[in-house]
Amino acid sequence: MAEKTVLVTGGAGFIGSNFIHHLAETRPGWRVVNLDALTYAGNPENLRAVEDKDTYSFVHGDITKEEDVASALEACGDGPLEVVHFAAESHVDRSILSGLPFVQTNVVGTQILLDQCRARGVERFVHVSTDEVYGSLGDTGYFTETTPLAPNSPYSASKTASDLLVRAAFHTHGFPAVTTRCSNNYGPYQFPEKLIPLMIANASEDKPLPVYGDGLYVRDWLYVEDHCEAIRVVLEGGRAGEVYNIGGNNEYPNLEIIRMLLAALGKPESLITYVKDRPGHDRRYAIDASKIQRELGWQPRHTFEVALPKTIAWYQSQVEWMQRVRSGAYREYYDRQYGS
Ligand code: NAD
Ligand code: TYD
Repeated sequence: MAEKTVLVTGGAGFIGSNFIHHLAETRPGWRVVNLDALTYAGNPENLRAVEDKDTYSFVHGDITKEEDVASALEACGDGPLEVVHFAAESHVDRSILSGLPFVQTNVVGTQILLDQCRARGVERFVHVSTDEVYGSLGDTGYFTETTPLAPNSPYSASKTASDLLVRAAFHTHGFPAVTTRCSNNYGPYQFPEKLIPLMIANASEDKPLPVYGDGLYVRDWLYVEDHCEAIRVVLEGGRAGEVYNIGGNNEYPNLEIIRMLLAALGKPESLITYVKDRPGHDRRYAIDASKIQRELGWQPRHTFEVALPKTIAWYQSQVEWMQRVRSGAYREYYDRQYGS
């Protein structure tokens, strides 16, 4: 008999799959049901190491379809149930090309999930959100949990809408939801449309590294394992109705990261290619994560100096994974975004 059941949505994506591996290591007695639509970003290969475990099951389904959410809840059985909600359209550049899928999954899908989880009597619901809901910072200051929400991209606007629906479910219905807002993650299994794996993939093949604008946009980078641990800590001890910021206290301009990657890969800086800037590009994100540290004792364990080389080594060891995810639909997206 499993200790408890956790329904994970979006568990075949980057952070969701890392989270499932994290639970398998740190909470092996928990049963995990993974509901994922397997969009371009979802990859069952990411879950090879857990797929044969008795404590893991996969439901292929879409959170925007009521019947799929109902099937996943049924697969969870009748016992106590907790939910961690990762499923989302997650890439800013794609949201600029087309915003509607972001509203469908991130907004409509989240409401469908909330309604059914409330009817089911879910005991805890962790909504995984992003620091991008706070908008953009100037050269100084940090986002706290009380920073006004001011999203600037269709992606961050749809995540903000989902955060507000989660907030409303708590305030109106007493639904036991907690929201986390994390900074940029890096690590294994990240789809190579995001900065770090894209640059590793291109540099490894001596292809140009497309730098948006002046390359001086700043992000606060957190190793994905640290994010997964923070989510587990919030699942186990976070207060319902609260928001917890999660961050790495690890700010870097994009160009500096790209230079670090080139140096580690032994590739020339001449691969750096300045391209047209992202429209509405947020200048800087930086998280004040003192609340989660104070209340739940979480802080990041990995420094960039250790975890960036580890990440590069992972991608170098996963040549076939990289080749497979960069075929087909990826190529179409890449040509549309960067020009063939
Ligand atoms: P991802 O794009 O790698 O994975 C998303 C997963 O959700 C995929 O497996 C996909 O198949 C699934 N999915 C998409 N639409 C679905 C639908 N309608 N029904 C069911 N499944 C669906 O995303 P990620 O980077 O792992 O991000 C996970 C969550 O964390 C997102 O909610 C994102 O907003 C948030 N987040 C990400 C970061 C980051 O740096 N990547 C930072 C902070 C917060
Ligand atoms: P990204 O990984 O898309 O995350 P987000 O936009 O959610 O922070 O991008 C991180 C930063 O890298 C962001 O400032 C945009 C920049 N960037 C580039 O300069 N070139 C690229 O090809 C990509 C994908 C991102």
